[in-house]
Amino acid sequence: MREFPIGAIRQHFTKSLNRLAGVDFRWPNEAELDALEAFQRSLGRHADLSLPLPLKDPMAKLGQAIYLDDALGKCNLCHANAGATAAFSHFPLGSNENFNTGVENLPHHPARQVDPNMPRDGGFGRTPNGDRRGGFGNGTFNTPPLIEAAATGPFFHNNAVHTLEDAVNFYNSETFNNSPSGSRVRIELTPTQVRAVAAFLRVMNAQENIRSAIEKAKIAKQAGGGHQEERSLRIARAEIGHAIRVLEAGKLHASAVMPLKIARALLATASLVPSGPIRATLITLAVHQQEVARRHLVD
Ligand code: HEC
Repeated sequence: MREFPIGAIRQHFTKSLNRLAGVDFRWPNEAELDALEAFQRSLGRHADLSLPLPLKDPMAKLGQAIYLDDALGKCNLCHANAGATAAFSHFPLGSNENFNTGVENLPHHPARQVDPNMPRDGGFGRTPNGDRRGGFGNGTFNTPPLIEAAATGPFFHNNAVHTLEDAVNFYNSETFNNSPSGSRVRIELTPTQVRAVAAFLRVMNAQENIRSAIEKAKIAKQAGGGHQEERSLRIARAEIGHAIRVLEAGKLHASAVMPLKIARALLATASLVPSGPIRATLITLAVHQQEVARRHLVD
């Protein structure tokens, strides 16, 4: 985590493209790196989920099995436990690795339809990448976590792929399988298997949204008014919105979407009444609806 700000400062805070330390930018000091690390650690999820999840939807369940199968989907080799650490024998177990999966080689990059001369994004490193359009890097990109990937499209570093199903299908393509990392693993999935893996990513995303929304709703209830209460309510509503979107877009768990919509409406109403017993009751009802929804997703 300390390396990220160092890279970001050299890349983005430079006054000229010479990128000379001390002239164009200054390195962060230890105290600043400590503070940035502490801030980053305070954000986001504080505990990992643990795969496999006890999923109820048969397609999502199949998708999870494919995802975890090192001889079939092979996703877990690079996105272990739906996080960003490798479980590849070539790499130290648990390290967050960079891979060249060939995304830049996709034949039809959306941004190139606008500007065919857009330089190639070479990923990590500073050596010229030899492409006629210019650009730097060794072709590798950092592995992202997938727990909430379903809600964060378009996909890949260059937003080259629009839907989650197409992002999973990318791993099926010659572009991936001929890439430096892809040729080491080779992934071949049928259309049904692609849809199943996407269904798994969607349901995993939704159940994480529900977990987080329940946590935030409970924080709001205990906050006793003020900024934290309003903010937690807002985040809880947004999380439920994500769960609804990722499920609806995959035509999954219609029976869970209904209680989620009720929960969202209850929290919206709670935000309109002042902090106090009526709001607390509305939040309790919303949490109950979310628990109903969660029981449709997982055992
Ligand atoms: C060789 C390692 C490797 C394997 C195997 C792998 N991935 Fe990835 N994955 C990556 C890297 C690296 C990125 C970032 C690529 C980029 O941005 O160009 C990525 C990005 C993604 C993204 C985009 C996330 C986002 O928010 O943009 C999704 C979705 C994804 N992978 C799903 C999968 C699935 C599903 C599988 C199994 C079928 C899989 N990956 C197998 C390394 C891997």
